[in-house]
Amino acid sequence: MNITHTPEWQALLAHQQRLEKKHLRELFAADAHRFGHFSAELDGLLVDYSKQRIDQPALDSLMALARLSNLESWRDRMFAGEKINISEDRAVLHTALRHTDFTPFPNAEHDVMPQVRAVRKQMRDIVERVRSGLWRGFKGDAIQNIVNIGIGGSDLGPKLATRALSAMQHPGLTFYYVSNLDSAHIAPLLEKLDPRTTLFIVASKTFTTQETSINAQTARTWLMAAAMEEWAVAKHFIAVTSSPDKAHEFGIPDSNILQIWDWVGGRYSLWSAVGLSVALAIGMSGFERMLAGAETMDKHFRQAPLEKNLPVLLALISIWNTNFLGAETTAILPYNESIRHLPAFLQQLEMESNGKTVSRDGEALTCRANPIVWGEIGVNGQHAFFQLLHQGGWLIPCDFVVAASSDYPLPGHQAPLLANCLAQSAALAFGKTEAQAKEELSQAGLSDDHIAKLLPHKVFAGNQPSTTILMPSLDPFQLGMLLALYEHKVFVQGVIWGINSFDQWGVELGKQLANKLLPAILGNQEYDSNLDTSTSGLIAYFRRHGHV
Ligand code: F6P
Repeated sequence: MNITHTPEWQALLAHQQRLEKKHLRELFAADAHRFGHFSAELDGLLVDYSKQRIDQPALDSLMALARLSNLESWRDRMFAGEKINISEDRAVLHTALRHTDFTPFPNAEHDVMPQVRAVRKQMRDIVERVRSGLWRGFKGDAIQNIVNIGIGGSDLGPKLATRALSAMQHPGLTFYYVSNLDSAHIAPLLEKLDPRTTLFIVASKTFTTQETSINAQTARTWLMAAAMEEWAVAKHFIAVTSSPDKAHEFGIPDSNILQIWDWVGGRYSLWSAVGLSVALAIGMSGFERMLAGAETMDKHFRQAPLEKNLPVLLALISIWNTNFLGAETTAILPYNESIRHLPAFLQQLEMESNGKTVSRDGEALTCRANPIVWGEIGVNGQHAFFQLLHQGGWLIPCDFVVAASSDYPLPGHQAPLLANCLAQSAALAFGKTEAQAKEELSQAGLSDDHIAKLLPHKVFAGNQPSTTILMPSLDPFQLGMLLALYEHKVFVQGVIWGINSFDQWGVELGKQLANKLLPAILGNQEYDSNLDTSTSGLIAYFRRHGHV
């Protein structure tokens, strides 16, 4: 089925024409209860989408589009463990990782829960030994520093969650995340760490990712320079992987290898042992609260009617903005410092999942799929790029994300933070009309001439759509709900666009080429005569100037 040729899609185009010229000011003026009608709450997590340029008839048509795409059936197939990741012939079962009761999952015939529980037990044991000081380094010292070496999904999720929940962190442990191949990432860190008190977690589903392998080897060499004995690796390295043999080859003993499975996608792996650093930071019971939050969102996603289903609503709004209003990008604006890594996490989640132009059946899509996701801490953005959001003329839907109370309460900070967050979404939505701007300037006592000169600069078009997501506080449960909300949103969008959201073939070409170019950069071989002149010119530069 080509979704863009359906009557449902055509109906949405008609809504777009009807609403195109409608300003958010008018939508709010027409409905005194717009907030009540266009917001929803689940266990304290509030989603306000009333500042989206949408009305009930358009939303109803979006719901019809979701039903036409067999969303409910695809959702049930995912939860049932069907191999919906067709191009990799894999099931998509990250939801099993946050299944907390003792029933089989996805079903009694293919119950993955015994393996999941076994790894959770292994995690709990490691977490308790490290946090209590029982885990000792090669000289008998307790661990003080945890370094997670990983990239992509093996880095972004745990880094986000550890930072988000840092107020709960074990006071005797410090956490670091190394991902970049550039030695400037790991070298200064190793300079300041003590090998006797440092534990490395090598998180890599495949255990072949170049960036992670090179950083892990560097860490191993650094440890060996101090310990001099191979057995020290067992005291300072843990692997999280679906390739235990490769971790073994690296020298990590079986007892320190925590398994993940092919049915956990990298960008959906925070809930697995990839989250070990988070569990070490906040304790296993804290980690399980995060799983419980995600599980609450899973249940909501499975059970709530589409009209009240938060991931479905977020996904449909994003489709509305992308495919009907024409937005090319979307901004993620966390206001709490603790969730500063949210934009980077969502970039991978959204763009690696749905950044595609081919349907799951291999047909070319006839509409654009995922928008470009970007973002920054809200208040910092206010002093950087918000000017363009307000007056740059681009349509850029925004997600404002903020917790009502601070995880590091200090007098005088939180209320202004919240005020800024709300002020920005209101200013973006409602703007300032020419009449309002004129009135303000004349009240300030400016001459008519002066007003005429300033006026064009003082008008704000507004009508910039946004969703505001509020949490009471940043606790593990709320964080779990928030991240699972976005995960399912991405899934819903993929279903409607007809995409397989769980493969990522687009990252392969660059990896293959990097391997091909490496010998030439090292100077070990002449350039491939088939290389384009740009690449060979740049290699020549590296050979002249680089110390590789
Ligand atoms: O960028 C491609 C990718 O495969 C991501 O999907 C994944 O999260 C990342 O690389 C890291 O992979 P691994 O965990 O296998 O090292």
